[in-house]
Amino acid sequence: MKKNKSKELGIVEMKNFLSYDEKIEEKTNTFEKLMTIYEMAISELETKMNILQKEFKVFYNYDLIDHINTRIKSPASIINKMTKKGCKLTYKEMIENINDIAGVRIVCQLKDDIFKIRNLIEKIPGVDIEKEKNYVNHPKESGYSSYHMIVNVPVTLSKQIIYVKVEIQIRTMAMDFWASLEHKMKYKTDKKVDKKKSKELVNYAKIVNKLDNKIMLMNDS
Ligand code: GTP
Ligand code: MG
Repeated sequence: MKKNKSKELGIVEMKNFLSYDEKIEEKTNTFEKLMTIYEMAISELETKMNILQKEFKVFYNYDLIDHINTRIKSPASIINKMTKKGCKLTYKEMIENINDIAGVRIVCQLKDDIFKIRNLIEKIPGVDIEKEKNYVNHPKESGYSSYHMIVNVPVTLSKQIIYVKVEIQIRTMAMDFWASLEHKMKYKTDKKVDKKKSKELVNYAKIVNKLDNKIMLMNDS
């Protein structure tokens, strides 16, 4: 068997894979092809995470990962975000500036498992970490807490390997519950959330954090 098969394939940056200087048009082939590449990157990462989940369950009798959700950002949200960021509406700018077109959310039971999962992702061969944000130790002003990573995932095609950006969010079930509620209240309704409710949400986030800490300690003892 040949060694280093991957060396036969060129490594191509996503932005050089097709000719992307053209304007974004949702109903073209280019858009569909690009979204397919993002979907492939999600499948790659999801499979790797599923394997780790199974390994921990079967070999160590440990539920490291409770569940995994994935999503591709909708065309409307992509365009909306690009407009807000002041980007030109081209594929090139989309690939370079929008980090969360492909999203993977990993939900676990215990707060310290977040860091175990993060360290396992760091060790996956070929997966490069581009950026990390630790909102677990440093929650956002809103109260939001999760561990964020932007990683580049290699997608192996017949003629080349493409590195594709994926946003990973790692959080506990309690954090997930809070974030879903808050997201629904703030983004999904037309109503503006008033200051009093925002403060209340920050308070609930603190309660969620206390709960996560207590459960983690209980589990350790
Ligand atoms: P965007 O928020 O995506 O524009 O990019 P950013 O560079 O500010 O990234 P950040 O890592 O802060 O947030 C990325 C994602 O985390 C968001 O798209 C949300 O899914 C989630 N998120 C960040 N802040 C909040 C928050 O206050 N509440 C909730 N529910 N989710 C949040
Ligand atoms: Mg986002």
